[in-house]
Amino acid sequence: MYRFQSKLDLDTEERRLHCDAYNLLLKEYLQVLQSVVDRENDSQVIRHRQRGKMVARERISTLLDADSSFLELSPLASYNQYDNQFPSAGIVTGIGYIHKRLVMVIANDATVKGGTYIKETIKKHLRAQEIALQNALPCIYLVDSGGIFLPEQDKVFADKDHFGRFFYNQARMSAQGIPQISVVMGSCTAGGAYVPAMSDEVIIVRNQGTIFVGGPPLVKAATGEEVTPEELGGAVVHTSISGVADHIAEDDNHALQICRNIVETFASADMQPSDRATPVEPFFDQRELLSIAPIDLRKLVDPREIIARIVDGSEFHEFKEDYGKTLVVGFARINGYKVGILANYGVFFSESALKGAHFVELCASRNIPLIFLQNITGFIVGKQYEHAGIARDGAKLINAVATANVPKLTVIIGGSYGAGNYAMAGRAYEPNLLFTWPNARISVMGGEQAANVLLTVKEQQLVKSGKTLTDAEIKKVKDEIYEKYEHEGSPLYSTSRLWDDGIISPTDTRKVLSIGLEMAYNRRFEATKFGIFRM
Ligand code: COA
Repeated sequence: MYRFQSKLDLDTEERRLHCDAYNLLLKEYLQVLQSVVDRENDSQVIRHRQRGKMVARERISTLLDADSSFLELSPLASYNQYDNQFPSAGIVTGIGYIHKRLVMVIANDATVKGGTYIKETIKKHLRAQEIALQNALPCIYLVDSGGIFLPEQDKVFADKDHFGRFFYNQARMSAQGIPQISVVMGSCTAGGAYVPAMSDEVIIVRNQGTIFVGGPPLVKAATGEEVTPEELGGAVVHTSISGVADHIAEDDNHALQICRNIVETFASADMQPSDRATPVEPFFDQRELLSIAPIDLRKLVDPREIIARIVDGSEFHEFKEDYGKTLVVGFARINGYKVGILANYGVFFSESALKGAHFVELCASRNIPLIFLQNITGFIVGKQYEHAGIARDGAKLINAVATANVPKLTVIIGGSYGAGNYAMAGRAYEPNLLFTWPNARISVMGGEQAANVLLTVKEQQLVKSGKTLTDAEIKKVKDEIYEKYEHEGSPLYSTSRLWDDGIISPTDTRKVLSIGLEMAYNRRFEATKFGIFRM
C-alpha cells in the first residue's frame, strides 16, 4: 500500500487557532468526565470506604491485569438528568484483560443510590451484555446493588429491554459457552439475586455480600419471621447451606483474586483467524487530529487527512477514488488488523451510496471488518435526485451495511444527521462499538433546517384558515426549534442517553479502534447473506 500524501499545511495561524479551539472543547469534556468519576469527597464514597469496601473502578483495576487497559463504556450515562444524582448511571462497564483474556466487566456502584437501577443503568448493563454476546467476551459481574430504583419501576421492570433481560442474556450466553461469573460484594436483592444465581460460578464476600429473593423487611412483613441479612443470605449461608455461591472470600481483594483464578480455567476463545501484520504507528502524528477534526460542520474536511492519522503507517489503498467522491472508501490496517474504511466527504449522492454498497460487499466477501467515520449531513434532496432514485440507491447501502456480517466499528467524527446516520452504521445497525468525538453533532437534521421545515408546515396549516404569521411569531417558532436542536444535538446529550458507547478524544481513536478490532476477532465472523438489492 502507498502512504497517503498530506496536502495540509498545519503550520498556519488558522490551524493553530483551530487546535486551540479544539483543546478547549476537549477540556470542557474532560472536566465533565472528571466531575462524574472523581467523587472521593462524596459522603457515600467515604461511607463505602469506611465499611472496608473498594469503589467500583478500584475493584475493576484490581481485577484486571496490572498492565491492562480498560475501555470504559458510557461513563457519562444519565449525565445532566435526574439532577445529576446518578453519576455514570450508578454502574461501571467496560472491556479489559484478565490473564491476557479480554473480558467484559459490569460493576455496580453502591455509592450511587445503593447501586440501584434507573433506565440508563439498565441500558448500560444490557449494552455491556450485548457487546459481550456479539464478541463472545466472558462477563464478570461485580454485584453490589439494591436492585430496581423503586420510584422509577415503570421504566425499568416489565418491558423486554428491562431488568428481566439481564438473566435471559446470562442464560443465552452461558448456553453459547460464554462464561458468566459473579462476585457478590454487597447487596443482591430480589430480582438482582438472579445475577449470581444465573452465573456459572459465584464468589461472595464474608460479612459483606448478601443474596436473597426477599430481604429481611419483606420476610417480616410476609411471614412475621425476624432474621438478619447475614442469617438470611450471607456468605456462609450460600457457600455452606444453600449452594447458591461457590467460593467465600474474606474481602474485596480476596474475592477479585479468586475471580482471576477462575478466569485462568476458561476454555480458549474460538477466534476468527486473522492475518494480522506487525502494527506500525501512523506516519502522521495523531495529535494533529486536533488541528483537523471538524468544528464548523459547514466546512468540508478531507477524511483522508483523518484516516492517515489513524491507520498503520498512514497507508491507505483507496477504492474508486474518482467516482462518488462524497464518500471515501478504502483498505488499511489498524494495529496490524486489515480494515475497510468508509468516511464521508459531503452529502450522499446516488454514486457515493452505490460505491459504499459495492465496497461493503467487497469487505464482507474478504472477511474484513468495517470502520465507519461519520461526518454526514444526509442524502441529497431535490426533484432531480428523487427522479434518479436516490432513495433506491441509499437503500442499497443501508441494506449492505445492515446485512454484512463482518464486525463494524463506528466513530462519529463530525455530523451525524438523517438517514446518513443509518447508512454509516449508526446505533440501529449494531456496530460492535460506536464512539463520538466531542465536536460531533447528532440529530435528525440541523437546527436551522428543522426550524425552516416546521415553519413551512405551520404556515401551510394557517393558509387553510386564511391566517399568516407575524415576523415576531416566525422568529419565535424558529428560535425555539433551533435552540432545542442545538441542545439535543450535543454529544453530551447523546452519550447521556446511551446512543453511543462514549465520547473519546480524536487522539484516542486509533487505540479504541484497536481494542474494538481485537475484541471483534474474539469470535468467528458469521457468513454474510445479503438481501434483495433494489435495482
Ligand atoms: N429504590 C430506591 N432507592 C433506594 C433503593 C431502592 N431499591 N435502595 C436504596 N435506595 C436509596 C436510599 O433511599 C438512599 O437514598 P438517599 O441517598 O437519597 O438517602 C440510597 O439509596 C442509599 O441507601 P442506604 O440504605 O443508605 O445505603 P446502604 O449502603 O446502607 O444500603 C441497600 C444499600 C441497597 C442494601 C439498602 O438500601 C436496601 O436494602 N435497599 C432496598 C433493596 C430492595 O429491597 N430492593 C428491591 C428492589 S428490586
